Amino acid sequence: MFKSNPHHISHPVVSVIGAGNVGSTLAQRIVEKNLADVILLDVVASRSQGVALDLMQARALENHDRQIIGTDDYTHTKDSDVIVITAGVPRKDGMSRDDLLKINAKIVSEVTLRAISHSPNAVIIVVTNPLDVMTYLTWEISGFATNKVMGMAGVLDASRFQAFIAMELGTSTADINAMVMGGHGDLMVPLPRYSTVSGVPITELMSADAIARLVDRTRNGGAEIVKLLQTGSAYFAPASAAYLMVESILRNRRRIIPAAAYLQGEYGLEGLFMGVPVQLGQEGVDMVVELGLSPEELEALHTSATSVRANIQRLKAIHER
Ligand code: APR
Repeated sequence: MFKSNPHHISHPVVSVIGAGNVGSTLAQRIVEKNLADVILLDVVASRSQGVALDLMQARALENHDRQIIGTDDYTHTKDSDVIVITAGVPRKDGMSRDDLLKINAKIVSEVTLRAISHSPNAVIIVVTNPLDVMTYLTWEISGFATNKVMGMAGVLDASRFQAFIAMELGTSTADINAMVMGGHGDLMVPLPRYSTVSGVPITELMSADAIARLVDRTRNGGAEIVKLLQTGSAYFAPASAAYLMVESILRNRRRIIPAAAYLQGEYGLEGLFMGVPVQLGQEGVDMVVELGLSPEELEALHTSATSVRANIQRLKAIHER
């Protein structure tokens, strides 16, 4: 009466490359919120298979029928609607930034080429760090249109800023909106004037000192967690942030959120991927939203862009060596 078909996948399909902490948690969010079927791929096949089986065993309790397949075989990712790249290695003691850049560039290049050969029409979201340069590399190596490739960072940084504003004011995060632009690093640009509680900018609700403290904590949001965890880095909020982007694309919600997008003159910048507000729909980045920035805000954004550009140059230099 019933036909067994363990690999029966239905669209929408999201391939999550890298079944580490972020990839596994993202896979869980996607299936348990009933958004899509998931192919979870890792170079360590047993890891992706173990996580997938664990999530399948939770299905009866979580009350959903989404499929999740763990694999190291790219043919299983065929015709994915969205590909999320979380594969990489974290920075370890004694490893220079150049070493990390080199290792993750090799991994990201390889997984991009293998994944797109089976899903030429997918939208790609890059999560692997260093984020802005890995997104640039993915775009360059894929040959995809600029709207089809983006990086996840700003929405995570903004969510951290939202959390700290809510903690400071004792209000619900539901009424808080925050905006963080720039590269995903120490030079990111949280924008207090565009961060609001029920529409009121936080500049009208808090002292300049308090805002400076929250901005600083946002900039160090990832590092604070690395220190506390002692092994590994943050993954719950990064997975939630990537989920939000996947959802806006698959459901064509056209949410306006910050993401690393290709700039073609917006904010006076071009030829790089960096965090800016974008509208996300089924084709990927529908448009980059241009906020009116003060001269100081614009200068901070350009300083961040200079550091992202330096990373792109370092990547090119490593390649040429
Ligand atoms: N192909 C597929 N998977 C790979 C490859 C590869 N070539 N190389 C490494 N991986 C896998 C690892 O086996 C591991 O399971 O990528 C996974 C990375 O997982 P974690 O080390 O747990 O890292 P995670 O915390 O998930 O972060 C992933 O996101 O936020 C960023 O800085 C973070 O770059 C990091 C990425």
